[in-house]
Amino acid sequence: MNRAVYPGSFDPITTGHIDIIERGLAVFEQLTVAVAIHPDKTGLFGIEERIELIHKAVGHDSRITVDSFEGLLVDYSERVGASVVLRGLRAVSDFEYEFQMANMNRHLNSSVETCFMMTGAGLFYVSSSLVREVAQLGGNIDDLVHPTTAVALQAKYNR
Ligand code: PNS
Repeated sequence: MNRAVYPGSFDPITTGHIDIIERGLAVFEQLTVAVAIHPDKTGLFGIEERIELIHKAVGHDSRITVDSFEGLLVDYSERVGASVVLRGLRAVSDFEYEFQMANMNRHLNSSVETCFMMTGAGLFYVSSSLVREVAQLGGNIDDLVHPTTAVALQAKYNR
């Protein structure tokens, strides 16, 4: 069985992430969507909230597991039996950071390969941080997140 790990902060999951999950499922039999726990970084949503929003956004699909992890991504990937890390690429600006991470992960464990997929053309400007900002300032986020995520964001910002 070929499994990929799709790691990220997912604070919160956006339509860009959902697009990569769908693309990933066309290539990998099993996908583990893994929310990274950064001990020194608090996000808008707690880890359990992020996991719940991912579950609601992707619906029930036996090919998808949603989880969280702390520590090195390559160690986590090995633990769950995934030899591939899936990452989405939006624009050239993503490249440098992704290139650095992929090579650091390769340095740490050369048996874990990083696979990049391009997000859909209409989604290259969507990021969790911009979605949070737009939601906070009362802008329309309907096309940027799943409806349950939109409700959760509006509740966070009392809108
Ligand atoms: O959605 P993000 O914030 O761009 O995701 C970044 C993430 C979670 C993939 C990255 O921070 C990560 O892999 N964290 C785990 C810690 C780790 O393995 N660090 C060393 C390799 S760069």
